Amino acid sequence: MNLHRHHHGGVSFSALLFIILSVFAPLGHGSSSPILSELNGPKLRHSRLFKSALQHQVSDEHLSDLWEPLSNQGWKPFVESTVTSSSMPESSGFIQVFLDGGLNQQRMGICDAVAIAKILNATLVIPYLEVNPVWQDTSTFEDIFDVDHFVNILKDDISIIRELPDEYAWSTREYYASAIRSTRVKNAPLHASLNWYLENVYPVLESYGIAAISPFSHRLAFDNMPIEIQRLRCKVNFEALVFVPHVRSLGEALVSRLRYPIVESIDAVSGTKYIRQVVDTKSGHGAGKFVSLHLRFDKMAAHSACDFGGGKAEKLALAKYRQTIWQGRVMNSRFTDEELRNQGRCPLTPEEIGLLLAALGFDNNTRLYLASHKVRIYTLHFDSILYY
Ligand SMILES: *[C@@H]1O[C@H](CO)[C@@H](O)[C@H](O)[C@H]1NC(C)=O
Ligand SMILES: *[C@@H]1O[C@H](CO)[C@@H](O)[C@H](O)[C@H]1NC(C)=O
Repeated sequence: MNLHRHHHGGVSFSALLFIILSVFAPLGHGSSSPILSELNGPKLRHSRLFKSALQHQVSDEHLSDLWEPLSNQGWKPFVESTVTSSSMPESSGFIQVFLDGGLNQQRMGICDAVAIAKILNATLVIPYLEVNPVWQDTSTFEDIFDVDHFVNILKDDISIIRELPDEYAWSTREYYASAIRSTRVKNAPLHASLNWYLENVYPVLESYGIAAISPFSHRLAFDNMPIEIQRLRCKVNFEALVFVPHVRSLGEALVSRLRYPIVESIDAVSGTKYIRQVVDTKSGHGAGKFVSLHLRFDKMAAHSACDFGGGKAEKLALAKYRQTIWQGRVMNSRFTDEELRNQGRCPLTPEEIGLLLAALGFDNNTRLYLASHKVRIYTLHFDSILYY
């Protein structure tokens, strides 16, 4: 078995840690790894299924389908409205939003903020990204997204400013954090309608010339929106929001490393260490392809009342997390593990994920990456995934 774990730190914009498992050889029956023996012998629950999956030969035809892009399933790109926009209406005031959550939630929040500025005829201040307690990323909007591009693409839709004019410079995050302020809208319901904003935020703009909405994540409904507003959200997401060049190049470098990993080798003659990029370990359909899995085998695994089949050490680790992190707030603990699993209330175990990958047609040649914040429950036996 060939198991490498590399922790790549220092990717500050996303603070993702990748645990990289290189899968080249399956674990033979009877071979022992240090991880497995630590666990007091976790048992595969589906060893018969595993055996037949291991013997299953995947046809070439199936393998080539596997890496084909999915069909569009009826989704279409948005089409630019044919209604020629008349001149921009007079601004009703400034809209500020403070976005919490991870980058993905913040991105949706930016789309919603543009939609709301549009409906209120307001001028949008470049959104403020809160520092997330998990990711601890202090990047601002300007650090992540190309602001000139953002403003330019949306110039016929709404007005956007980078900073408030001097007379409103008092309206900062600190100002709202320190006391109750009449310009702050803090009661926007989850998935509010456009009417809610017209009824509750427009009056604030009329009275003060500014409205600061916080919290704002997930505060605009998806359903029953005018088609023009939905189009505008798509335009923000797919056209207006582009990463700054250094984020794009870092992303491209990461994908290239994932496709063609760097490995350390030792020259057999001289004994010198050197690194090389793997470009040729595979040929055919899977070349340069990889599967990445985002498994929540962190404290979330303990949040379910489930057992993951990792044996005694894992059970102890889970119990500790249930007590210290969740302090007993674990749902469904009155059910047995079997009941929970049969009811579909358990995250898949590593073993089940291995079976799922095999059923989808991935073979033991597949390059597999686990993306994760931190795997806190170290004993969860990822080894069973390594059968593939
Ligand atoms: C991969 O699985 C096939 C059976 O499908 C087996 O013949 C082969 O030895 C396995 N490859 C490795 C590297 O273990
Ligand atoms: C925004 O401007 C348009 C065009 O001038 C106008 O029809 C609409 O009533 C305005 N909306 C609000 C909320 O004032």
